[in-house]
Amino acid sequence: MEPEILRTTRLELSAPHEGDIAAIHAECQDADIQRFTTVPSPYLPADAEAFVELTRGWWAEGSEATWAIRLEGSLVGMAGLAKLPSGGPELGYWVSAHVRGQGVATEAARAVVDWGFAEDRPAVQRIEWRAVVGNVGSARVARALGFRYEGLLRQAGVNSLGRSDMWVGGLLRTDDRDPQPWPVL
Ligand SMILES: CC(C)(COP(=O)(O)OP(=O)(O)OC[C@H]1O[C@@H](n2cnc3c(N)ncnc32)[C@H](O)[C@@H]1OP(=O)(O)O)[C@@H](O)C(=O)NCCC(=O)NCCS
Repeated sequence: MEPEILRTTRLELSAPHEGDIAAIHAECQDADIQRFTTVPSPYLPADAEAFVELTRGWWAEGSEATWAIRLEGSLVGMAGLAKLPSGGPELGYWVSAHVRGQGVATEAARAVVDWGFAEDRPAVQRIEWRAVVGNVGSARVARALGFRYEGLLRQAGVNSLGRSDMWVGGLLRTDDRDPQPWPVL
């Protein structure tokens, strides 16, 4: 796959590149990003370098689509779809602490979901969302996009800080996107 650029009202989403390495390293020092995502902890400059290289390979082989979220030219997050060949890819995102609470994650993730369900990608029938139990911010983003809460997966999450129970949600290509009630929110 060729990396694509997605544009929303405020944001540009484009493939991470070498010039982003320092910003990615700085942002991934954030405790919530290390706790709630699969980035390594501690997060070293080499991890950011390796990540940018990996994303290039994922685009090329079509396994994952990963975008840097850019606001007024600055990198303020990352969003993407992993496990694309499964036809039920998993949505992921993080946003820089200094711009949280302004709808950045929701705006970026909506563009990513629209890309996943585009007509020229008919194999994608479902997009899955998973988050560590208690990650209310992430759950509110998914709910805003129309994801349905589907349950709790015991100890299904693993990162370098350990294992966690995970909330799981899903959005089908045929679902309407209106926010639904979530029993855990
Ligand atoms: C979760 C995260 C991506 C949210 O980013 P954001 O840009 O602040 O999200 P938005 O501004 O689009 O907020 C969307 C909703 O979440 C709510 N929200 C955001 N952060 C919240 C928090 N920490 N606690 C409670 N609610 C929160 C907003 O109020 C809004 O709710 P509403 O739609 O019901 O009004 C961001 O906090 C983050 O990067 N966290 C660390 C990494 C992470 O958890 N990634 C997700 C892994 S599954």
